[in-house]
Amino acid sequence: MHRTTGKVAPVPQPETFEFTPEHLAEAKEIIAKYPEGRQASAVMPLLMIVQRQAGGWVPKAGMDYVAEMLSMPPVRVYEVATFYTMYNMEPVGRHHVQICTTTPCWLRGSDAIVQACEKKLGVKLGETTADGQFTLQEVECLGACVNAPMMQITSYGPQYRDEYYEDLSVESTEAILDTLAKGAFPAPGSQAGRNASEPAGSTPAQVFRLTTSQPTDKKSAE
Ligand code: FES
Repeated sequence: MHRTTGKVAPVPQPETFEFTPEHLAEAKEIIAKYPEGRQASAVMPLLMIVQRQAGGWVPKAGMDYVAEMLSMPPVRVYEVATFYTMYNMEPVGRHHVQICTTTPCWLRGSDAIVQACEKKLGVKLGETTADGQFTLQEVECLGACVNAPMMQITSYGPQYRDEYYEDLSVESTEAILDTLAKGAFPAPGSQAGRNASEPAGSTPAQVFRLTTSQPTDKKSAE
């Protein structure tokens, strides 16, 4: 399901779109990875570049530009862009806060994370703060269930970032938003101090034993 995001303000669709030289070089590098005749497979990463360049959304002119570059019928590009939630069809705030509320995150307290964000930012899911700094959005599983609850924050502009914040609590969520509001970037990853997705509460020695233990060799044990 494609969930629409809140508009910063009604923004007219630009008449034209063209990659900057830097983004054009990046696009060409991606296209070259696909065999001759299969360049259309590059549509998704190219749409992400459009979104990054446009400041957080994919205008129609950007989709048409990608369609022409990949020799695709424009409608096939529209289908891709409107199917996946990672493409925004409307402008978003500078920081796009995407909170996962799918079952594993929900069981681990994503409702409290949503409430903390809504309270802190003064907006509801799908809305953008009046200063255009934050857009709050609910998303489906982002593939980091082992460190639930979690959220992805994409920050647009010259200091583009796209980070996962995991093992969230109300306190750590508020601290992340405070740091972003001050113009800094919090450290991504687990906010509970664990390394990657190692078992919660384990000591380094326990993790070492878990990761280095060998399967029992029955013959040598006999
Ligand atoms: S359920 Fe939230 S990351 Fe998978």
